[in-house]
Amino acid sequence: MATQEDRLKDIIGHAKEYGFVFPSSEIYDGLSATYDYGQLGAELKNNIKNYWWKAMVQMHENIVGLDAAIFMAPQVWKASGHVDAFNDPLIDNKDSKKRYRADVLIEEHIEKIRQKNNKEVEKGQKRFGDAFNEHEFRTTNPTILRREEEITGIENRMRDALTNDKLDDLKLLIEELEIVCPLSGSKNWTDVKQFNLMFSTELGSVSGESSKIYLRPETAQGIFVNFLNVQKSGRMKIPFGIAQIGKAFRNEIVARQFIFRMREFEQMEMQFFVRPGEEGKWYEYWKDYRIKWHKALGFSENAYRFHDHIKLAHYAKAAADIEFDFPMGFKELEGIHSRGDFDLKQHEEFSGKKLRYFDPELNESYIPYVVETSVGLDRMFLAVLSQSYKDETLEDGTTRVVLSIPPALAPYKVAVLPLMKKDGMPELAREIIDGLKFDFNCQYDDKDNIGRRYRRQDAIGTPFAITVDQESLIDKTVTLRERDSMKQERVPIQDLYRIIDEKVNMRNLLVG
Ligand code: GAP
Repeated sequence: MATQEDRLKDIIGHAKEYGFVFPSSEIYDGLSATYDYGQLGAELKNNIKNYWWKAMVQMHENIVGLDAAIFMAPQVWKASGHVDAFNDPLIDNKDSKKRYRADVLIEEHIEKIRQKNNKEVEKGQKRFGDAFNEHEFRTTNPTILRREEEITGIENRMRDALTNDKLDDLKLLIEELEIVCPLSGSKNWTDVKQFNLMFSTELGSVSGESSKIYLRPETAQGIFVNFLNVQKSGRMKIPFGIAQIGKAFRNEIVARQFIFRMREFEQMEMQFFVRPGEEGKWYEYWKDYRIKWHKALGFSENAYRFHDHIKLAHYAKAAADIEFDFPMGFKELEGIHSRGDFDLKQHEEFSGKKLRYFDPELNESYIPYVVETSVGLDRMFLAVLSQSYKDETLEDGTTRVVLSIPPALAPYKVAVLPLMKKDGMPELAREIIDGLKFDFNCQYDDKDNIGRRYRRQDAIGTPFAITVDQESLIDKTVTLRERDSMKQERVPIQDLYRIIDEKVNMRNLLVG
């Protein structure tokens, strides 16, 4: 049985071998936590972006998109609170010299306690079979209840230490829980220190504090500073949203786990502006909408869970993560945040410009409240890749690696394969591609035997392969092979468009 670590390694190897993701600057031995998307990775990434943009912007009358600059006036980051509060609490192990996020060490400890409870539940399930009632077991079993109480106690202390910047308490908690360094196994910890995550650089040729600018750590601020521009030019009426896809940069200390945590990454964010007092309703609405968007991809229902934040970001009044079952366990995929009027109010104060909305129904002006949805594009990519990756043993004992990528997201939709490189088969294959390529990304492949070519398409997740053979030249039919079932059927060339479209059209994914 492959371990989770093996599985992640296999996925990373596969992603490199087939041109999805390469380590950045590899010929110079790479740059840590930085990756490049290859020829298939770029296609998959674009399709994920498209799925998000269609669902969030084009399917909503009251949501529009923008594309703001990465560089922004430095005051933006003072106003947003990032200069003062966008920190990670870090702790070093003196023996291994390894640096950790103090809150992550504690959260991992909590997760271990949770796992023990899950094991207890599994045992109960085995013992009582169908008569087992998980809810009752979890709410009455004394061992489980004691551990839950322990978790709540730790969470409360961590919350207090993080929100009140009590770094000594955080260290004390790590010591009391007897957390050891995973590398050295020792409890020899330094004090906890705050570390700002923003990258800075200098504008123009002058150096010094006055010309210091930042690479944006979130795309959201490009939306806030343009709130009135968009509202006025687009005649937007509250409630309305502004969405954006773009790069963000964070000097992550614990940057690891492939593309899960990088220093340069992409976010897909939407800020939804609402009447003050209505944010609770919209927060629930967007939590529900976003989880549906994820689940529409057809992966296991159990691959998702909500997790309410213990430590709220400096801007948030309420926040929940959609966590995903990555190869390294459940981790944050998306955040949904109720940001109140924090950002617009701060920008009003720092810029001296009014950022208000006149509500004709209420006949008053106010600073709107904001509910934000923010999903990492690279994490979506890893979620899709890891859930799609399958190492299968077939009925005849042979094996294949297949990427069962949801067809609408697959890099190529169709591969067209002439059985032989002669007798007009390549020409007919190209003719078929010419008829399909405006709507579906097609690949032509005439190398190797047909079995190997099918395997290659399986490995890159192409939902359909079309084989052109001698018969095709006579009766204008081809063999259509479906990736997941490997079923083959003979279909007229003129039906190909309809059959492929039915399966790969993004319409199939879009909810509401
Ligand atoms: N505007 C709100 C915001 O930026 P966040 O929870 O810090 O909130 C949102 O980030 C999402 O961005 C996360 O849920 C995650 O998917 C993605 N993300 C954050 N840091 C990342 C990193 N270092 N590498 C890859 N993705 C990251």
